[in-house]
Amino acid sequence: MILQCISLLLIAITIRPTIGAYQVGVGRADMTGPSAEITLMGYAKLDQKGCGIHLRQFARAYIFDDGTTRVLYVTADACMISHGLRTAVIEKLQEAYGQTYTYENFLLSGTHTHSAPGGFLMDVLYDITQLGFCKQTLDAYADGIFRAIKRAHENMVEARIFMNSAEVINANINRSPAAYEKNPEEERKKYQYNTDKTLRQLKIVAVSDDKPIGAINWYAVHAVSMNNTNCLVTSDNVGYASILLESEYNPESLPGQGSFVGAFASSNLGDVSPNLNGPICVNTGEPCDYETSTCNGENKYCIASGPGKDMFESEEVIAVRLFEKSKELLVNESSVEVTGPIKFVHQWVNMPEKTVDIQNANGSIETVHGCFPAMGYGFAAGTTDGPGEFDFRQASTTDNPFWNLVRDFIFPPEPEDIDCHYPKPILMNTGRLTVPYSWQPKIVSTQILLLGNFAIIGVPGEFTTMSGRRLRDTVKSAIISNGGDNTSEVVLAGLSNTYTSYIATYEEYQLQRYEAAATIFGPHTLQIYQAIYKELATALVKGTKIDAGPTPPDLSKLNLLSLVTPVIFDSAGWFWNFGDVVEQPPKSVKIGETVSAKFIAGHPRNDLLSEKTFLTVEKLVNNGNWTIVATDANYETRFRWTRTGLIKGASEAEIQWVVRDKVEPGTYRIRHFGNYKYILGGIYAYSGTSDSFTVVA
Ligand SMILES: *[C@@H]1O[C@H](CO)[C@@H](O)[C@H](O)[C@H]1NC(C)=O
Ligand SMILES: *[C@@H]1O[C@H](CO)[C@@H](O)[C@H](O)[C@H]1NC(C)=O
Ligand SMILES: *[C@@H]1O[C@H](CO)[C@@H](O)[C@H](O)[C@H]1NC(C)=O
Ligand SMILES: *[C@@H]1O[C@H](CO)[C@@H](O)[C@H](O)[C@H]1NC(C)=O
Ligand SMILES: *[C@@H]1O[C@H](CO)[C@@H](O)[C@H](O)[C@H]1NC(C)=O
Repeated sequence: MILQCISLLLIAITIRPTIGAYQVGVGRADMTGPSAEITLMGYAKLDQKGCGIHLRQFARAYIFDDGTTRVLYVTADACMISHGLRTAVIEKLQEAYGQTYTYENFLLSGTHTHSAPGGFLMDVLYDITQLGFCKQTLDAYADGIFRAIKRAHENMVEARIFMNSAEVINANINRSPAAYEKNPEEERKKYQYNTDKTLRQLKIVAVSDDKPIGAINWYAVHAVSMNNTNCLVTSDNVGYASILLESEYNPESLPGQGSFVGAFASSNLGDVSPNLNGPICVNTGEPCDYETSTCNGENKYCIASGPGKDMFESEEVIAVRLFEKSKELLVNESSVEVTGPIKFVHQWVNMPEKTVDIQNANGSIETVHGCFPAMGYGFAAGTTDGPGEFDFRQASTTDNPFWNLVRDFIFPPEPEDIDCHYPKPILMNTGRLTVPYSWQPKIVSTQILLLGNFAIIGVPGEFTTMSGRRLRDTVKSAIISNGGDNTSEVVLAGLSNTYTSYIATYEEYQLQRYEAAATIFGPHTLQIYQAIYKELATALVKGTKIDAGPTPPDLSKLNLLSLVTPVIFDSAGWFWNFGDVVEQPPKSVKIGETVSAKFIAGHPRNDLLSEKTFLTVEKLVNNGNWTIVATDANYETRFRWTRTGLIKGASEAEIQWVVRDKVEPGTYRIRHFGNYKYILGGIYAYSGTSDSFTVVA
C-alpha cells in the first residue's frame, strides 16, 4: 500500500509538467481580400467600395496544447466572422490535419475593421450592400486564415503563458450613453467608466530562450477610426496596433513578416467608439440630441470623430495608445503565469427555440425564449460612427439592384414576432424569411476555451459594455462556484464564429438605440446567453458532456446570389504599356513630405498578390542594390487604384509614401506590381519602376 502510494506519487511528480509548460504555436498570414470595387463591410454603405490598400489584412493564429488537449484561437482582420467562413477554414484544416481542429476547439474571431471587403457572410441581409456573395473575398480570407494556422501548427514549441492587464483610459468612449444609463444604478456604480478600459494580455514566452514569441491583447473598441468615406482597405486602429507591436519585436522585418505574432483582438465593443471627440452636428456645430443622436430630427449630420485631425491620424493615435500599453505589459513583472489544464466546450444553439427561466426584479421566475431574428427601426438610422448604416430609402429605389432582386420576398411581421420583440418596432422581419435563403442566422455557435486559469469566451456578435460585463461575471462565478481555479480570469472574444449583430442588455433594449434595434433575438437575448454560457462553464469545469446542439445550415452549398461583376478586361491605351509611369515623383523630397508616383495599372482583383505587395519603396544601398524599405502593408504607404474612364478598361495606380522621421536620407524609387486581364483572355503580371529621387533631411 505504502509502496503503491510512493510509486503513484513518483508518477505524479514525474508527469506533472513544470509550471505552465505548454506547447504553443503562433502564426500569421496575409488574408487581404479584393481591394477594389467590392463594398467594404461594416457601414453598410453600398457606394463605399474599395479603391486600394492602406494596411493589409492579416490573420493571427495561436495554438495551445497541454499534452492531451489542444485549442486554436485565431483573430482575423475582418469585420466579423461568418459560419460559412469558419466552415471553409475547417474544411481545409480537416483535409490537412484530420480531426485535430474542429468547431469545438477552434475559435475564430474578427477584429471588426469596417474597411475590409465583405460579401463572405452568405446570410442575405449581411451581403446586401456587397451586391451579394463574393467568392473572391471568402477564398482570400479562408486561405489566409488557413495559412496562419498552418504556420502555427508547424511551429509548436515549449512555452509558458502569462496574463496581465492594465487600463487604457484614452482610447474609447461610449457611443450610446443614454442606453447605458438605463442599466440599474447599483450596477453602474460598480464601474468607474461607461466602457471597459482594461487591456487584457496573454504573453507567450518560449522556454528555450525565455523570449516572447507572441501576445494577444483584448480591448473593447470598434475599429472605426476610418469613417465611411474611406475607400482604402485597412485593418484600422487595432490592426495598426498589431503592426506596431510586431515591428517592435521583429525590428528587421517588413510588416506582416517576422516570427513574433502580436494581436489586438475584439471584445465587448458593441457600444464602444474610438472617435474620442464624440458626436456633434457637423452642419451646425451644435451638440446632437442625447437620446436620438439627431440634429433637428435628422440623423445624417450627427457624426463622431477624433482624436486626430483626420481619420488617418485618428487611426494612428488609437493604435499607438494600445500598442504602448501592450508594450509596457510585455515587460511588466507583475504578470501572472497561466497554469492548469487546457479545456474547451462548444454548443450550437437555435436561439428562437431556446427557452430559459429568468428571475424578474420582484423575484418571480419567468420562462422566456429567443425571438426569430428581426431588425428594428433604430437600426436604419445607423450610429454616430457612421449614420444611416442601412439606407433603406436608397435601397428601395433603383439604386441597389441586389436589393431590388430580393425585396419582393419581404413579408410583414406576424403578431407573435411583434410581441416577442416588444418594444422594438420591427423594420425587417428577417427571421421568417426563407427565400431566397436565410437572411440572418438562427443557430449560433457558443464556446469557451480554457487555458488553465484563463477563459476565452467566444460570442457570436457584438456585446455592449454592460452585456459583456454581465456575461464575464456569469462565466467567472460558474467556473469558481463549480470548483474551478479561484484565480481564473475571463475575457470575451467578440464577433466569434457566427455573426448575429448586437447583444444589448434588457434595460438598454427598452430605449431602442441602434445596438438594441440590432439585438436580433429580442429583449431577453443576453439573459439567454447568460444561461447558456453558465451551463457551458459548468460543464467545462466538471468535465461533463454537453449536447452538441443542432447543426447550422451550410449556405455555401447553395447557389448564392451574387451581382458582383467580374473584371472584363484591362487596357493600357494606345501609347502606353502596363507599369509605365505617367507621373514621376519629384527629384527631391524632404522628411515630412509625401511623395507619389502614378502608373498605368491593371485591376487589383486580377490577382490579390497574397503575401506579396502592389508596391515597394526601395532604397539604393552602397553596392548598387535596391533594398525594400516599405510595402503596401506599411502605414506610410497608400496604394490607390482608379479606372480613368478615358479609354474603356484603363486604370491608374497612385502610390504614395509619407516620408517620416525614421527615413534615412538617400536615393529611393517607387515600384508598382500588378496583373492585367487581356481582352482576348488570360491574366499577365507586369511591374513598373519610377525614376529615382533623393530624400533629404
Ligand atoms: C506593472 O503593471 C502594474 C499594473 O498596471 C503597474 O502598477 C506597475 O507599475 C507595472 N510595473 C512595471 C514595472 O511597469
Ligand atoms: C471622415 O473623415 C474625414 C477626415 O479624414 C472628414 O473630412 C469627413 O468629414 C469624415 N466623414 C464622415 C462621414 O465621418
Ligand atoms: C413580477 O414582475 C413581472 C415582470 O416584471 C410581472 O409580470 C409579474 O406580474 C410580477 N409579479 C408580481 C408578483 O408582482
Ligand atoms: C483560492 O483557493 C485557495 C485554495 O485552493 C485558497 O487558499 C485561497 O484563499 C482562495 N482564494 C480566494 C480569493 O478565495
Ligand atoms: C547585392 O549585391 C551583391 C554584390 O554586388 C550581390 O552579390 C548580391 O547578389 C546582391 N543582392 C541582391 C539581392 O541583388
